[in-house]
Amino acid sequence: MKIKQVLSRRIWDSRGRPTVEVEVVNEDGTSGLGIAPAGASMGTREAVELRDGGARFKGLDVQNALRGIATEIAPALAGRDVAHQADIDAALMALDGTPTKSRLGGNALIATSLAVLHAAAAHARLPLWQYLAQGRPVRLPLPQIQIFGGGAHAGRRVDVQDFMVIATGATSFSHALEMTAEVYRAAGELMASRGQLAGVADEGGWWPSFARNEEALDALVASIEKAGFVPGQDMAIALDIAASEFGHGGRYRLALEGEELDTDALCERLVRWTEKYPIVSIEDPLAEDDEAGLVAFTRAVGGRVQVVGDDYLVTNADSVRAAATVGACNCALIKPNQAGTVTETLAALEAAKAAGYATIVSARSGETEDVAIVHLATGWNAGQLKVGSFARSERMAKWNEGIRIESRAGAPSGFAGRAALA
Ligand code: PGA
Ligand code: ZN
Repeated sequence: MKIKQVLSRRIWDSRGRPTVEVEVVNEDGTSGLGIAPAGASMGTREAVELRDGGARFKGLDVQNALRGIATEIAPALAGRDVAHQADIDAALMALDGTPTKSRLGGNALIATSLAVLHAAAAHARLPLWQYLAQGRPVRLPLPQIQIFGGGAHAGRRVDVQDFMVIATGATSFSHALEMTAEVYRAAGELMASRGQLAGVADEGGWWPSFARNEEALDALVASIEKAGFVPGQDMAIALDIAASEFGHGGRYRLALEGEELDTDALCERLVRWTEKYPIVSIEDPLAEDDEAGLVAFTRAVGGRVQVVGDDYLVTNADSVRAAATVGACNCALIKPNQAGTVTETLAALEAAKAAGYATIVSARSGETEDVAIVHLATGWNAGQLKVGSFARSERMAKWNEGIRIESRAGAPSGFAGRAALA
């Protein structure tokens, strides 16, 4: 089916900031929408977002990205077969012409690429996950859900960015959500009873009114117990340290504790946490430039804990292969807008699977009502999904979409469950 039209417009994300939406219309009238999300703690090697700069909306407007879509991308895509995703993505990359997608913008490219994908599924009259699965058996992903938000998502109130839970005892996607709902509520009640309830952070997690990073871990365990679950059995802990936000060159500054740690000391601290708390997954434990640290940490805990690369791997197939060669991480976070096109995102996911890594498809802190990543995680059989907390509609829209996928006729063949963890 040929593409008839590529429309674009500025819409607003969950932080009230401008973002890019693209609508691809096919000649048969079917169409697809793609929306660019936005990060706050970004890897330095991510596809570059094209923002206008200047005073308007603090420089975050996307008029230049929209202009590039209208004047260059739309004419280049008109008449192409919408089902030829790889060819279209290659054309987008060639059109941009830069290694970082800085000319037309990673935001323009990912919105376009996702819109093409949605339009192809719409033409095939299939839900996106099913279009992607191509008849292969796939499972609903195991969710990682934030309970306390921190780092760049909470004014750096605590250093660690995400304190999350994984319902390791869940038998279905909706069961995992039910269990998490109880823990999320229990955590809010716990904070309220201590006079520490102060609203929510960027991704809907409770605002982290803690005196030490470890206090958040204690509160997490207490919340799991308060909800009636056995920590480590029914419900485990996952962390995103997002260490690039508070360290580089092997020096880390924990502002809350007023400590400066080198790589070894931070590794030791995190290993101690994994021994003291029921932690099954740690993301970006060291900064993106601290490969030796990531290798050492993976060697230390990789046999029993999932070590996730986000800023370090930036959804790049070559980076994943290089990491596997040196033995850094055992799981790749997959964020479509870090790569900039659907094809490159899938290549990173496939490189991770080929290296024996687990994979987690992930949203960004700046999100919208878009639910595409739930379909990507399911249709690509990623095993795991991370979209922030259990509050606010830009998050809940995604969890709810998973429930729809799971409950409709012709649903995927089950739930990935804890076996999806590295
Ligand atoms: P970001 O953070 O979307 O703000 O970059 C999410 C993450 O680090 O996983
Ligand atoms: Zn991260």
